[in-house]
Amino acid sequence: MSPSTGTNASSLANPAQKQSGGAAVEMGKRLRQEAREFPWKDALLRMAADVVLVNVAMLSAFGLWFLFYVVVLDIPRPHDLAAIFKGFVANYWLLWSFLALLIFQLSGFYTRARGYAGRYKALVVFRAVSLFMVIFVFSDYFLFRGALVPRGVAVIGWVLTLALIGGTRLTKHRFLSMYRVEHRTQPGRVEKVLVLGGAGYLGSALVPQLLARGYTVRVLDSFLFGEAPLAPWKDHPHCELVRGDVRDIEAIVHAVRGCDAVVHLAGIVGDSACEENQQLAIEVNGAATRMLVDVARGCGVHRFVFASSCSVYGASDLPVNEHSKIAPLSVYAQTKADSENILLRSQAPDFHPVLLRLGTLFGMSRRMRFDLVVNLLVARAASAHRITIMNGDQWRPFLHVDDAARAFVVCLAAPSSAVSGEIFNVGSESMNHQLDHLGEKIAAVVPETEIERTSSSDRRNYRVEFGKIESRLGFRCERTLESGIAEILEAVRTRAIQDFSTEEFNNQVATRAYAQTENGKSSPLRELAALTSREAKPTPSGA
Ligand SMILES: NC(=O)c1ccc[n+]([C@@H]2O[C@H](COP(=O)([O-])OP(=O)(O)OC[C@H]3O[C@@H](n4cnc5c(N)ncnc54)[C@H](O)[C@@H]3O)[C@@H](O)[C@H]2O)c1
Repeated sequence: MSPSTGTNASSLANPAQKQSGGAAVEMGKRLRQEAREFPWKDALLRMAADVVLVNVAMLSAFGLWFLFYVVVLDIPRPHDLAAIFKGFVANYWLLWSFLALLIFQLSGFYTRARGYAGRYKALVVFRAVSLFMVIFVFSDYFLFRGALVPRGVAVIGWVLTLALIGGTRLTKHRFLSMYRVEHRTQPGRVEKVLVLGGAGYLGSALVPQLLARGYTVRVLDSFLFGEAPLAPWKDHPHCELVRGDVRDIEAIVHAVRGCDAVVHLAGIVGDSACEENQQLAIEVNGAATRMLVDVARGCGVHRFVFASSCSVYGASDLPVNEHSKIAPLSVYAQTKADSENILLRSQAPDFHPVLLRLGTLFGMSRRMRFDLVVNLLVARAASAHRITIMNGDQWRPFLHVDDAARAFVVCLAAPSSAVSGEIFNVGSESMNHQLDHLGEKIAAVVPETEIERTSSSDRRNYRVEFGKIESRLGFRCERTLESGIAEILEAVRTRAIQDFSTEEFNNQVATRAYAQTENGKSSPLRELAALTSREAKPTPSGA
């Protein structure tokens, strides 16, 4: 057979077969990779400890069940029962030891689940121990019909194994947190940063700033807008790009490992994008945060900087600051408020969450957005000489994307005592503008721009104070609204941006497309949420 015939034959193969063949090869590769990376030395000790614990639990279960028969039921010939139980133990201890190890290994006890913390760890232990006992009882039934392990022993064995396997892990975690003896490069010092959502509008401005300041950066992003925004840093020796979803606990555990800090920018961003698919927005922006915090803490991350938004203030006639009551008016703002609450509650002596409430961003970035009011109005003014201002009397704080990125760098460099558990509004009071003023500023820079005024149901209206970030961290905006307007104008006029109305620049359209994909439809978090009852479900107000 000629090589070309072979190629044709394979290309004519049933696509399902090809797919399953591909999946098998993929799985083979993954298993080999896992075997290479498996931490044998460390894992063998843990495995030995688990075998001892499972045997202690099972022997105690037999012992307790024996006592129950002898003391409570007062059976006539206890020696016979003791002989039967001894027979069980002698015949089965190898089987239950092997089964337990196999199931614990497959559940990731010695690999991925080591980074889990809190209820995620508890859930994994619960599932693995229950599965172990069910499979043990079934294999006993199928292999040794007629000589079944007493049900009482199975139940007591399950409870004791759960208590011992779960209890030792819980005690170890408590002990380590109490005495803070977890392995860290240098407590308090940030060297390696994980940027979640680092390929977006803000992320692609932040990553080069971090690299320029000597940080090692790992980006985890689902690349809704592709990898191109970070292409110049793809081969940078201190930059690593990982494709992953913030709802995927395994991907997060892998990505978080070895990092000192997490910067969380990932999300379905903007009111209209979140309205497009509320469930997706709630999962990605809100529910994932709890898991991210648990995993980060479990892996010894000590700083977690979160991109929140001034839109949590909703509508207020008076200027607002970090102490003002928040009043989210949209699903987007509500998910931000929910994440803020989770993060504020997570503060601990060895875990420092920082919340940055950003103004509305503008300016050029390597992943452009033209669904942001300044960027969109300038592009429209430049191309059509006509802009529409909706609800012109409403206030918004504006912030250049480069300044926003710098605020994250400042928070990473600041001492923990200055930022731990703190909320900072990020922006400048001189850049609070009514939307009418914004239109006039743009018209002043782009001559012959006609302004049309109209209204919409959007009630957001907030004027924000920014004194705290300046007095505590010395942060001041360096870029003005005028400089941002000028750079966008330049990009549109020189055709660096060919068509600002295309889908790639619009988060709502991108979310619609993403929601149709497999990743958009299913989520590892949804499975966890079904198994754990207390998943946060934000109740959108005013949306
Ligand atoms: N742009 C603004 O005006 C503004 C204002 C206030 C706050 N923020 C916040 O700043 C952050 C960044 O905003 P942006 O303007 O860069 O938005 P963006 O949409 O450009 O970037 C979001 C990034 O998150 C990624 N992402 C989305 N879902 C993901 C998932 N499930 N797993 C992993 N990655 C995922 C996307 O691929 C994208 O790269 C967001 O948290 C946003 O809420 C932005």
